[in-house]
Order: sequence, then structure tokens, then C-alpha cells
Amino acid sequence: MSTVQNTETAAQLRCIACAATPDSAGQDFRCAACGDLLEFFFPGWASESPDPAALKSLWLGRRASRDALDQSGVWRFRELLPHIPNLEEHAITLREGNTPLYRLPRCARTAGVENLLAKHQGMNPTASFKDTGMTFAASSAHQGGFSWVACASTGNTSASMAAYAARGNMHSLVLIPEGKIAWGKLSQSLDYGALTCQLRTDFDGCVRILNDLVRQKPVYLLNSVNPYRIEGQKTAAIELMEQLAWEPPDHIVVPGGNLGNSSAIGKALVEMLALKLISRLPKLSIIQAHGANPFYRSVREFGGKKLEPMTADTLASAIRIGNPASWKKALHVLRATGGEVEEVSEIEIAVAKAEIGADGIGCEPASAVTLAGLKKLRRSGFVKPGESVVLVLTGHVLKDPDFTIKFHSGDLFAGTPHAGMPNVAETAQSKYLQRAPLVLDADLEAVIAALDAAERNS
Ligand code: F0G
Repeated sequence: MSTVQNTETAAQLRCIACAATPDSAGQDFRCAACGDLLEFFFPGWASESPDPAALKSLWLGRRASRDALDQSGVWRFRELLPHIPNLEEHAITLREGNTPLYRLPRCARTAGVENLLAKHQGMNPTASFKDTGMTFAASSAHQGGFSWVACASTGNTSASMAAYAARGNMHSLVLIPEGKIAWGKLSQSLDYGALTCQLRTDFDGCVRILNDLVRQKPVYLLNSVNPYRIEGQKTAAIELMEQLAWEPPDHIVVPGGNLGNSSAIGKALVEMLALKLISRLPKLSIIQAHGANPFYRSVREFGGKKLEPMTADTLASAIRIGNPASWKKALHVLRATGGEVEEVSEIEIAVAKAEIGADGIGCEPASAVTLAGLKKLRRSGFVKPGESVVLVLTGHVLKDPDFTIKFHSGDLFAGTPHAGMPNVAETAQSKYLQRAPLVLDADLEAVIAALDAAERNS
């Protein structure tokens, strides 16, 4: 017999390494037996799987609902998420998810594919994909009775956590690397009222301090090692499939930092296939910046057998991460879907970001690794011209205006270790994309001259 209702209670925690199934997780969300990460699985689905057609029509019907949870692009899919007791009392939602799927015609031409779409997770309430996981995990913190939540962050997690904590009347503690996060993100956590600590270290150093802190203080950890975060972030893939009328694309391309998002999207794809919501798996490919490429190296150099932490450096500050927590989960979904890993240079990221902007969409630098990576995957033949591709854009263009202004003014790499070593072809392309502001006298003739010159050059 197939039903819709019986699915939501069936979630259980399991260690990804030793397969222990603890009843509950400790403060650090790691397996008490072996120290590896925990994930949710749904044992009930094996014996009594929900009816895919019934689920699809239930979820579609909720789009017309006035209920806050039904309006959320995360909670709308709650049948595929673990059950949170007394949900009505504890759910914290900002109507996250519901993000647009855009066609990218210009980017498709430069990448050499016919059918290119962008799922823009930067169109979430705090302008990054983090909100989909945060609504779920923050609600679980509320249900657990915590008054403090905390995270280490390159900026987006902290902005999102601070907002959801504030909405749920909880205090939030943010640990961020000093001077290494974009202003837009820092300003968000200040406004949402977080206790914001800029530590004189990098993201990986912030994670180490936070892990020690949660073992001593009753604060709820909201980094993506928290399996509730992963569950919430699964919904981006479910929503994407719904937008594509449940017809999967050939490829999905995501940026890789701490590797929670790729793990979540991959988990959702595998679960949707098992539940017959989709009939085949898209290949999920993960792109890293060359200067922050420990996962790329793990797969390419060590066959995924180990991950060597590194000191990360990239202007795409969101993914400046040298020791990604979820690398084993990401490796699993990479293998399960038959995806590829790629790395891209700083200039490739900058050019790709301007190209996504020129399609009238825009995104933050870390999101642009997807387009830069796609071009390389096309060149290597992994992606064929006729195949359909969805890029997951993770953050909004306004998150990091400094990067954008420096790119268009031509001084993005000034004073950085990346100055002086760009790839020549990409540099010519970046010049073509640059649109530095013109400073003119307040004079009609000057403006008309600028207009005519632009017309001649277009
Ligand atoms: N894109 C953006 C805009 C991000 O903020 C992040 C991660 C990623 C991609 C990578 O996602 O870590 O799941 O592989 N930002 C985290 C933060 C680490 O603290 O905001 P991931």
C-alpha cells in the first residue's frame, strides 16, 4: 500500500562511516562511536514507500495555501524531511525557497551548450541558499529548547543563522574570519542582532574553536555538520525537479566549499530516484576554486581515499575553505550520480561572474565557479553540447559588491597574490566585459558623447 502521511515520522540518524544508528545526536553532531558525521535516513520508505503521484499533487496544491509552512519552499516538501515534534509551535520560516529557475542564453553560448538554466538560491530571504537548511535546523534548535545557536562561517551561514535566530527569539553567536568575509554578509549578522566575533584566523580556525565551544556550553551548532541543515537544503533539488516537471536535467553543477550543499542536493536526488519521483539521476558536478581545492585534489590525486587539508586562498571568500567537513558525504553523491570535480582559476571565476551578470541575473563570486567549471567540463567532453545543464547559483550579486566594483574598474587582483598570473585569453574576455563607471561633467553633450561612443562599440 502507498500513502503520503506515514513518511514523515520515519527518519533515523545513522553514522556515515560506521553505520551506528544513535537515537539522538550530541552537541557536536558527530558519531559517539567513531567521530564521523551523522545523516538522516528513512527506513520506512523501504517497506511502505509514499505514492509519488500523490506527493506531487499534494506539494503543488500547497502553492495555493495561505498557511506559512505551505508557502515555504522548504516546508512544502515536509514529507521528505524528518519530523519535528510540535512543528506549529517551533517552526521558524521566512518563506524561504521558492527560488526562480532562469534561462541563461548568453552564458549558454560562451559555455557551448544549448540548454543552460540557473537555479538562483541567492533569491532566498537572506540572499543565499543557506536559508533552506537554516529554517529547518533553527526550528530543531527551538524545539530542543536552546536559547543560543552558533556557527562558524565565511559569511552566508552567519547571515542566515542570525536572521532565523532573531525570528525565533534565540540568541546567535557568529564566528567569522577577520577581514575575510564580504561586507554585505557581515552587515546582515549585525543588523539581525548576532553576537559577531571576528577571529584572527581563517574559516577552518573558526570551526575548530566552535567545535570546542559546543562541548562546553549549551549552544546549538548550526554549521552544515548538523544533519538538519542538510535535510532542509535537500529541498532546493526537489523544488528544481518540480520546476522541470520532474524531468531531470543531464547535469547539475554546484560550487564546493564545506561541501554540505552538494551533499544535500545529491542526497535529495538519490532519495527522489528511490521514491520514483524521478526516473533517472542527473550527474552532480562539484567545482572548487583552484586556491581552495582540497576536494578536487582528494578525488583527482588520491582517488577519494583521503582529504589533505590546505590553507585556502581565493577571492571567492564564501568558499575559502581548506578542510571541508562534509567531504565524505560529497564523495558519496559524486560517485552515486556519476558527476565530476573541477577546479577553476581566479580569472575564470571573475569572467564567469561578469557573464552571469551580463545575462541580467548576477551572483556572488563563489556561485560563478559553476559557469567557469561548466566551460571546463565542456572542453573535457564530460558535458556534451546537446545536454541540459542547471547551475546552482548560491548567493546574490549584492552580497559582495567590492568584488564586482573592483572587477569592473580593472583592479580586482591589485595587491593580491593573483596579480600578474592571469590566463591571457580570459583577460581579453574580462576587458570586454568590464563596465567601469564614467565620471563626467554635469553636461548633456558629455552624456550624449558617452552614449554615442557606447553605441559604436556595441
Ligand atoms: N556558495 C556560497 C555563496 C556559499 O556561501 C558557500 C558556503 C558555498 C557556495 C559552498 O557551499 O559549503 O555547502 O559547499 N558558505 C559557508 C558559509 C561555508 O559559512 O556561509 P558548501
